[in-house]
Amino acid sequence: MQRFRYLRASGELRDHYAEVSLAPGDFIYPCFVVEGRGAREPIASMPDIYRLSIDRLLDEVGSVLRLGIDKILLFGVIPPEKKDERGTAGFTRDSLVCRAVREVKQAYPEAFVITDVCLCEYTSHGHCGLLHGDDVENDATLPLLAEMALQHALAGADCVAPSAMMDGQVEAIRRRLDGEKLTKTRIMGYSAKYASSLYGPFRDAAASAPAFGDRKGYQMDYRTMFQGIQEIAADVEEGADYVMVKPALAYLDMIARASALFRDTPIVAYQVSGEYSMLRLGAAAGLFDERRIFHEALTAIKRAGAGLIISYYAPEFVRGL
Ligand code: PBG
Ligand code: ZN
Repeated sequence: MQRFRYLRASGELRDHYAEVSLAPGDFIYPCFVVEGRGAREPIASMPDIYRLSIDRLLDEVGSVLRLGIDKILLFGVIPPEKKDERGTAGFTRDSLVCRAVREVKQAYPEAFVITDVCLCEYTSHGHCGLLHGDDVENDATLPLLAEMALQHALAGADCVAPSAMMDGQVEAIRRRLDGEKLTKTRIMGYSAKYASSLYGPFRDAAASAPAFGDRKGYQMDYRTMFQGIQEIAADVEEGADYVMVKPALAYLDMIARASALFRDTPIVAYQVSGEYSMLRLGAAAGLFDERRIFHEALTAIKRAGAGLIISYYAPEFVRGL
């Protein structure tokens, strides 16, 4: 008989034998930005998460930096009357996200600022690419994503994160950035992004739900694994500096496979809005202790092999460390 129980007999021994621990530097904190001043709009489906105007965003970034969270991911949220078929508001030089990036980088040069690059937050139809009839056109979308990424990079973004799931998006962006000598701007590919029910609260937060149909024509089918590996391999080949698996908790197998196969590219796991809200609402209903359930979920994501974790709970988690 092998004896294991003595290893668990005291908190100290358990700590000595722990193979995984979480630190503030493991996290990327996603933020929703809106126009205006002094705005802090609650999001009904995401407890304690707000859409912030740029001035309020600066306060928020300041406070997470003090916690040791130095990486943020920005999403722009604009009113429906500013949206059009092409998502024009997303790729102008003075877009909401560009202004937010400039101000954040000016106030906090030490922050690592990542921007979401996709059309769905800016298109009237809410799809992630250009429409031709009811189809989302892959190749026609690429220059728009490249232009959006370029503007974010010119504004000072450290990293751009294309989430549209268009084939060739990383390559199109890398070429465009390099063509403008922005060789240092990093790219985080949303590589294995599954068509998931867990994005519901986000679409409420970002007002980005598709007006018709769904995203199954571009986001991955969750019945596939090897396709996800190929998507990641393609993004690495195209020049991605980070690759992502999304969602996280129901996709730990993909995180584990990816981290075993792509040892020299950090695997980023996105604990998405639905995961966040499930755990928050479950805790609020008394089903489990909030800090403990998040500690367990986030540890599992890291144990599976994630190098970085995008989480709405990051500041609250770090406060409890
Ligand atoms: C936009 C985008 C989405 C998320 C990140 N970028 C929504 C979607 O694909 O519908 C989801 C993030 C979350 O649920 O927290 N393409
Ligand atoms: Zn999108």
